[in-house]
Amino acid sequence: MSRIAYVDGQFLTHDFAVTHIEDRATQFGDGVYEVLAVVKGKLIDIELHFDRLDRSLRELEMAMSLSRAALKLILQEVVRLNRVIEGLCYLQVSRGSAPRNHSFPNKPSYSLIVTARRSEPASGKIGVEGVRVITTPDQRWQRRDIKSVSLLPNVLAKQKATEVGAFEAWLIHNDGIVTEGSRSNAWIVDNAGTVITHHESIDILSGVTRNRVLQVARSDGAKVIERAFTASEAKEAREAFLTSTSSFVVPVTQIDDTVIGDGHPGPVTKRLRRLYLRTIS
Ligand code: PDD
Repeated sequence: MSRIAYVDGQFLTHDFAVTHIEDRATQFGDGVYEVLAVVKGKLIDIELHFDRLDRSLRELEMAMSLSRAALKLILQEVVRLNRVIEGLCYLQVSRGSAPRNHSFPNKPSYSLIVTARRSEPASGKIGVEGVRVITTPDQRWQRRDIKSVSLLPNVLAKQKATEVGAFEAWLIHNDGIVTEGSRSNAWIVDNAGTVITHHESIDILSGVTRNRVLQVARSDGAKVIERAFTASEAKEAREAFLTSTSSFVVPVTQIDDTVIGDGHPGPVTKRLRRLYLRTIS
């Protein structure tokens, strides 16, 4: 079955789904995106992703005119056409195509693309067994709260992790703080059992999964603190984990060469993972 994508008003097979050579997302990284999880054929937390999309668009002075209802129908149709039961749906809005010029075009023709693909349920093996992460300097710009398609530092960090067989790269600010992962938020559980993740700020992306896990943890009575933590603190932590749309809640059992806790997913992480999975299934 050929995959179908949505490109500016049309549903097309991937071979024909193309954007303009002067699309600003291609030439300048001038665009924003969202990745949504599909579970049992349904898009998870669509309104929260739309809230974040609206925010990213606003921060970059982009004013796409499509309504939420229309956008939702497009996403659902792409998921349906690709028969995705478990997987991911990607949407991207760029400031459109225009003769190359750094300044915004006077009348941008915003471009919207949507794709969907099946993927291994993120609730599978890695979620049960845990993963290794590496640390690497955070080389990104200073507005990491915007979900911009300019992802080169994230790509380079993730590639470093891939080359050494690690699942993710945790990005380290020059003061030693773990901001987040290349495509996920970072968490630790300290020796008193407190669940800790970086506070919302321009330094991190406000993850939809992060915010759901915070809710789940708090309503379960866990002690939760949103604050920055360092890589050394993470290596001494009792447990560590990461969260994202594409992996849900994944235990981190090793950071660089340091084994976390006893090297197995810890009880707090396992419980939060279970509670989170319950909310989306
Ligand atoms: N990444 N931090 C960064 C830098 C991310 O790119 C992501 C998501 C997250 C987690 O956010 P959420 O829980 O809303 O997925 C945190 C997506 C999945 C991606 O780029 O593929």
